[in-house]
Amino acid sequence: MIKAQRGTKDILFLESYNWERIEKIASNIFHLAGFSKIQTPIFEATELFNRGVGESSDIVNKEMYTFSIGGIDKKETSITLRPENTAGVVRAFIEHNLSRLSPPQKFWYFGPMFRYERPQAGRQRQFHQIGVEVFGCENPSMDAEIIQLALSFLKAFNLSDFEVEINSLGCTKCKNEYKASIKEVLSSHIDKMCEDCKIRYQKNPLRILDCKQNSCQEILELEEVKKIVLKDYICPDCKNHFETLCSYLDELNINYKINKFLVRGLDYYNRTVFEVKSSKLGSQSAILGGGRYDNLTETLGGPKTPAIGFALGVERLYSLIEKVESKKLDYFVVSNNPKEALKLTTKLREQGKSAEFDYQNRKFAKQLEKASKTALCAIILGEDEINQGYYSVKDLTTAEQRKIDSFNDLI
Ligand code: HAM
Repeated sequence: MIKAQRGTKDILFLESYNWERIEKIASNIFHLAGFSKIQTPIFEATELFNRGVGESSDIVNKEMYTFSIGGIDKKETSITLRPENTAGVVRAFIEHNLSRLSPPQKFWYFGPMFRYERPQAGRQRQFHQIGVEVFGCENPSMDAEIIQLALSFLKAFNLSDFEVEINSLGCTKCKNEYKASIKEVLSSHIDKMCEDCKIRYQKNPLRILDCKQNSCQEILELEEVKKIVLKDYICPDCKNHFETLCSYLDELNINYKINKFLVRGLDYYNRTVFEVKSSKLGSQSAILGGGRYDNLTETLGGPKTPAIGFALGVERLYSLIEKVESKKLDYFVVSNNPKEALKLTTKLREQGKSAEFDYQNRKFAKQLEKASKTALCAIILGEDEINQGYYSVKDLTTAEQRKIDSFNDLI
């Protein structure tokens, strides 16, 4: 038997119904805030992620599904299944010259992402994200709106047991100064760090701050290291941006924690970064994460455009929400005349009523058994009903049966 690949999953029945519900709620919430849906391809040029997500990220270093495809012109092209969608949305923003439109441009998406990671609870190789990306607004009110939207979405599922963590990485200048200080303080501890952090030390030392390995955690706990991390290193403009964001979050009664160790695993971030975590998720505790990426559009060849967004892991959200049973059909047509049953179900559907019939001509008792499991009402269409032109309608919740003379009285 051929099975689904490790780290991938089929979504069926109740799960599928609840996924549809998640997407509908996302669509409502984002449309209310002026977002439009964007759908970008599942694969892109590998270079997009190398340059976009960044050479020092784990994603680019070891998690990408990359293929070399020989085209009809015999030229080799390297493509990658998208490990995340920010880079793809930025590519589309540049390609369609969307900076010509009045800012801000607000997009949301829902779709599969692919990362070659070791599968475990809350971590898959094909997983799904719901995300938003906004272009053209530097004002901290946009950062507050994005965080608020993420929380409204979680609250729509009655979730309240989560923690919001925020931090500011500062602009390129602050980040570079900060990286230099971190490098200096960690220089005497390199040999005790994990192998990944030894590489991070060279490529992007900030990433060491969120390493979960015990050996690195011990180093991060050292007073001399903590002193540097907790120091206010960001420039006055970045500090003002962050403090204004915090004041807006206070105004919106959003509880948050400033976590100076929060750096996020993708290279494109600057200034605001944030994550929402739930202790109910175990070791993969982030439901969603995001932040500003004011330089990414320019890095990828477009005009300088401030931008911010977040993405939420749908599988992780699904594991936290209360599941809703799918709705029963309005009608089940019980009949041994498939032609008449098909005509009646078609008419019912044309009137916006959900309806099915038994396609196998089984005994009425069997059909009624199926009807009571799947529908609110059974319409019995036996020989008498067909010949004399009436319907016998059974309410399957009360078992009450009535004779109805015309289709109009039926619906
Ligand atoms: P990320 O933190 O890499 O950010 O992913 C966002 C969310 O996707 C995570 O918080 C988690 O819920 C989910 N996720 C990530 N990897 C997996 C996995 N292997 N299995 C299951 N769920 C997973 C980004 O992707 C950025 N593009 C977010 C962003 C948008 N920043 C700005 N705009």
